[in-house]
Amino acid sequence: MNIKYLSTAPLASKAHLLAIPVAGDPAKDALIKSIDKALGGALLKQAKTEGFVGKLAQNMVLYPGKAYACGAIALIGAGKKELTAANARNVGAYAYKVARKLSAANLALVLPTCTAKHEDSIAQMVAEGAVLGSYKFSKYLTDKEASKQLVRTVSIHGDRSTGGKKKKTSSTMKAAIARGAVIADATCHARDMVNEPAEFLNPARVATIARKIARKHARVSVKVLDEKACEKLGMNMFLAVGRGSARPSKLIHMTYKPVRKATKVLTFVGKGVTFDSGGYSLKPSSAMVDMKIDMSGCAAVVSSMDAIATLGSTCEVHIITACCENLVSGDAYLLGDVLKAMDGTTVEITNTDAEGRLTLGDALTYAQRNTKPDELFDFATLTGACMVALGGYTAGVFSNNEALAKTWLKNASTAGEDMWRMPLRKKLKSQLKSPIADLRNSGERWGGAITAGLFLEHFIKDTPWVHVDLAGPAYVNREQGSTMRGGTGFAVATIVEHACQD
Ligand code: BES
Ligand code: MN
Ligand code: ZN
Repeated sequence: MNIKYLSTAPLASKAHLLAIPVAGDPAKDALIKSIDKALGGALLKQAKTEGFVGKLAQNMVLYPGKAYACGAIALIGAGKKELTAANARNVGAYAYKVARKLSAANLALVLPTCTAKHEDSIAQMVAEGAVLGSYKFSKYLTDKEASKQLVRTVSIHGDRSTGGKKKKTSSTMKAAIARGAVIADATCHARDMVNEPAEFLNPARVATIARKIARKHARVSVKVLDEKACEKLGMNMFLAVGRGSARPSKLIHMTYKPVRKATKVLTFVGKGVTFDSGGYSLKPSSAMVDMKIDMSGCAAVVSSMDAIATLGSTCEVHIITACCENLVSGDAYLLGDVLKAMDGTTVEITNTDAEGRLTLGDALTYAQRNTKPDELFDFATLTGACMVALGGYTAGVFSNNEALAKTWLKNASTAGEDMWRMPLRKKLKSQLKSPIADLRNSGERWGGAITAGLFLEHFIKDTPWVHVDLAGPAYVNREQGSTMRGGTGFAVATIVEHACQD
């Protein structure tokens, strides 16, 4: 899909569909009023009969005949006056969906009303939403016609900004829309990775994908460590989890080097369990059915690299993912086993389904030793308990550093991703005590997201660190605004926001 900025007057557009976001009562919107006048009052009359009041997710289509050059006009409900980032994205997606329904090959999308200060960020979000709204995982559908991309071009029109004197320049707006498209493309790439069956998206395939991204960018390199190399490094927790699978585990490490001397070193680690059966602590079928998504953290960090390298960053950026499958076999790891982690910690296995923290513990040690980060992040579909705590749409944020946690949450809010701080209560650490080893890998039921975070924190040595448990928002069971059913690509937008500040 081709998406661009146009500073020309929206009402002169010859697009098949002209979509106009309307926040609240259409009778109070200047642009709508002028169209209504040109149509002899037909617009507001139709809005009244259809009950269109500018609520989010509402829309209304009318055909202006000869009055305008466009084929059809759609009013897109934009809800409250000041749009949040996430809702601006939803508006873009809703407009796209109307265009698809009408088989409009080109869509002209007017920017929602907003203060001049936010004009560029709103434009970025609307562009992101239009691309995200077009997402469909159609690789395995045999009816190729039905999944064909009908909307070919989207032009975004300024400006309807209100208040404030500082108008954004056309080049600022163009850059914002291009940024939105890049972030959305990376998010869709992450969605594809999550939606792919584990049979296809195995650890070796993640390595192939990482290499493909590295080939695209001169400043990105990639290193893949096989099981032998990981064994040499003593990554026994990681290797134990993957041992039950016929598909070999892979540790993937991508590096982005900035043009000038790096201002900071950022390292993003993603949980890459390409399938989680639970191991001998076997999951029931109903809980296992979605477990191809247990590499959503990996998908987010790997896909983000593409956007980071495209947009450019002043930071040196590392992406690390320890990929493996947690299966049952004659060689799988057992309950009661004691593993020696890469950093020397001994861990008694009390639940083979608490495997994410084992793979991440070693990945975090690798990350600290080999990348010496100023800031270290991990993203993991780590615990069902985090979903119990925060619901299906919010990620839990755990950190050992107040300043970094604050900055991260601010960036999440700018990027329109729902994240919420959780405490690393030291008191609960006693749940991870073992009589025969330094730690055990699972605690009691209560506070399960926190004990998982505390387990990871054990492997952090004096590095500002943020752990994001995205078990909830990594995938959804129904379409909602700019998120489609299935993998969501959650965290890509915030990672890019954090890494690419100009
Ligand atoms: N991958 C799961 C967590 C998960 C559950 C992600 C549901 C997405 C949706 C993780 O490996 C797991 O099994 N966690 C256990 C931990 C427990 C055994 C301590 C859990 O949450 O039940
Ligand atoms: Mn598990
Ligand atoms: Zn898991």
